Amino acid sequence: MQVIKTIDELRSVLKNQSNIAFVPTMGNLHAGHIQLVEVAKQQAECVVVSIFVNPLQFGPTEDLASYPRTLEADCEKLKAAGASIVFTPSVEEMYAEFDGNNLNQTMTITPPPIANELCGATRPGHFAGVATVVMKLFNMVQPSIAVFGQKDFQQLFIIKQMVRQFNLPINIIGVDTVREPSGLAMSSRNGYLSNEQRAVASQLNSALKDIVQSVKSGNKDYSQLEKNAKSILNSQGWLADYVSIRSSLTLQPASSTDNDLVVLGAAKLGNTRLIDNLTFNI
Ligand code: PAJ
Repeated sequence: MQVIKTIDELRSVLKNQSNIAFVPTMGNLHAGHIQLVEVAKQQAECVVVSIFVNPLQFGPTEDLASYPRTLEADCEKLKAAGASIVFTPSVEEMYAEFDGNNLNQTMTITPPPIANELCGATRPGHFAGVATVVMKLFNMVQPSIAVFGQKDFQQLFIIKQMVRQFNLPINIIGVDTVREPSGLAMSSRNGYLSNEQRAVASQLNSALKDIVQSVKSGNKDYSQLEKNAKSILNSQGWLADYVSIRSSLTLQPASSTDNDLVVLGAAKLGNTRLIDNLTFNI
């Protein structure tokens, strides 16, 4: 496994590769990330994993500075998982226009309005930052396949739109969320939780599971179900951001005729914002 820090070296190493599977990450890797690498390995001999904490997708009050950076441990996990190349550029390497202070000069991708809903409602510019860095990474790696987690359902949806609308010759694969035995979706941000918080963190997943069960048993009062779930979470000590039942095909609010559904939730436990979602059919 090679660890590469510059775009020039990456291009020269990948020059003769025609079938590359790519897994973009921000590092601090857990079993969810490794599952993406496993899926990538089934698709191509050459698996490139990027580790880059992307400042462009963090808001001014978010956790960019404290985001866990664990490159050495990450590389060990990736080597064991059989990755071919780890690409880990600096901010200056990724953004040539970075002046040491801000990224005001960066040319960005404007995603469609769905990027301003759900997580985008409280994280303005987040998905523009994600789309922009993923487009840049796609241009650098030039994969034929890229693997993303369903855990970030809205992100996966926006990346699929970007690939379709910009006619990128890349097959996007979505992988099921990997969870702790409690049901808690694995996340780099789970490391922020205290032991007490971790013990109750699966309540978000439970709230979504309860909605799936209610809808499957015939309840179509989606807005009431969303409201109930939020107030239950709040009563359990969370600060619920949203719980939303949507079409998994369009990500628009679900109507009573939609059969392919996803229920998405985001809530804060102390200072830690967790997200989860479940897709289901009725
Ligand atoms: P990061 O949060 O590191 O996640 C990298 C990839 O791992 C994403 O596709 C995410 O959906 C997936 N992932 C995270 N937790 C998972 C889990 N429990 N099960 C399955 N997959 C999981 O998402 C990002 O980084 C960034 O926004 C990025 C796409 C790299 C752009 O900067």
